[in-house]
Amino acid sequence: MRRFIGRSTALAATLLATTSLAQAADVEVLHWWTSGGEAAALNVLKDDLADQGIGWVDMPVAGGGGEAAMTTLRARVTAGDAPTAVQMLGFDIQDWAAEGALANLDDVASAEGWDAVVPAALQRFSKYDGHWIAAPVNVHSTNWVWANKAVMDELGIAEPSSWDEFIAAMQKVKDSGRTALAHGGQAWQEATIFDGVVLSTGGVDFYRKAMVDLDPEALGSDTMKEVFDRMATLRGFVDDNFSGRDWNLASAMVINGDAAFQIMGDWAKGEFLNAGKVPGEDFLCFRVPGSAGMVSFNSDQFALFEVQDEEAKKAQAAMASAVMSPEFQSAFNVVKGSVPARTDVSDEAFDDCGKKGMADLAEAAESDTLVGSMGHGHANPAAVKNAMYDVVTAHFNGEFDSEAAVEELVNAVEAAM
Ligand code: BGC
Repeated sequence: MRRFIGRSTALAATLLATTSLAQAADVEVLHWWTSGGEAAALNVLKDDLADQGIGWVDMPVAGGGGEAAMTTLRARVTAGDAPTAVQMLGFDIQDWAAEGALANLDDVASAEGWDAVVPAALQRFSKYDGHWIAAPVNVHSTNWVWANKAVMDELGIAEPSSWDEFIAAMQKVKDSGRTALAHGGQAWQEATIFDGVVLSTGGVDFYRKAMVDLDPEALGSDTMKEVFDRMATLRGFVDDNFSGRDWNLASAMVINGDAAFQIMGDWAKGEFLNAGKVPGEDFLCFRVPGSAGMVSFNSDQFALFEVQDEEAKKAQAAMASAVMSPEFQSAFNVVKGSVPARTDVSDEAFDDCGKKGMADLAEAAESDTLVGSMGHGHANPAAVKNAMYDVVTAHFNGEFDSEAAVEELVNAVEAAM
């Protein structure tokens, strides 16, 4: 009996030591990557960290665009239980940094030369007060259309290059009895479409004035009324069951040939790839017609919440370093549908849509046609974004006509500022 106790105590001691070591080297990651394609990409990250001895504690909060994840995060922080690492977008990163909640990543950033390889448009969100406070893992963009090639071929539809051609193409699909536009009725999905429609209707300067500068004249303009008219036209091409549908189920409708098109960020490509589909053969990717040459971007970044424990700090630094490695950025983004957040990663491993995404991003940065996505928190702070969501979604659901929506938009934004 004595011997047994002795052995089990020793075993317990060993277990305890292993557990606390493992815990010290763990990162708890709060994220909203819960669809099939997103989970596949997440596994690339988990495996990469595991190779470096960093354990993963998963904290998934479903809901595209991350609104639900941000609500959970706020609750966790209020309870004094912040996760170590959090997937975060644009202005939200800045808000948390302003609260002094985020760890300073300057040491790892300077050792690895992040300043030289992360584009300025991203650094604007990864740095606060001149200090690195987040590690960007990718660049997504929202003004994309995903199309089923077989459906297009069958109906003799060529890739539309103007808004009118796009509408004519969708009419053809509708006439054939299929759903023209796969869509999920959730505010963030409507806001994602809105990004592309604003660019396509008003161009980059208008987008900046309205979405970024929040200029009341631009927000209340005839161009904005046309934007809402176009949203109403799109509403006529979705199926009857669109309300509340998750974005990846809308992608599945295009993948299966039940629908022809989806307007969605390039995380949708992750779903097509995860279903074994090949760009150019099974599906096409093109910019929202009328917005070619322009890119509305968002970047997933990992913000690391301030911790005191030295081992936990080390694990955080190792995670930041791992997500910024060029090899990882290639491997992860090939699966995720996004493109690298570093300018020095080759496009060799990427498929045609990924190559196009990388070229578009570089060109847009060069020609100053790169803008932050409103739908995904890169054009304006959360309060304004939420005000825009409300108006866009209410209009999409027929609560206001376009004229009333324009007025509501001006007022809602003013109240939120
Ligand atoms: C994120 C993507 C994610 C998408 C849908 C976006 O806000 O940037 O990484 O795949 O939401 O969940």
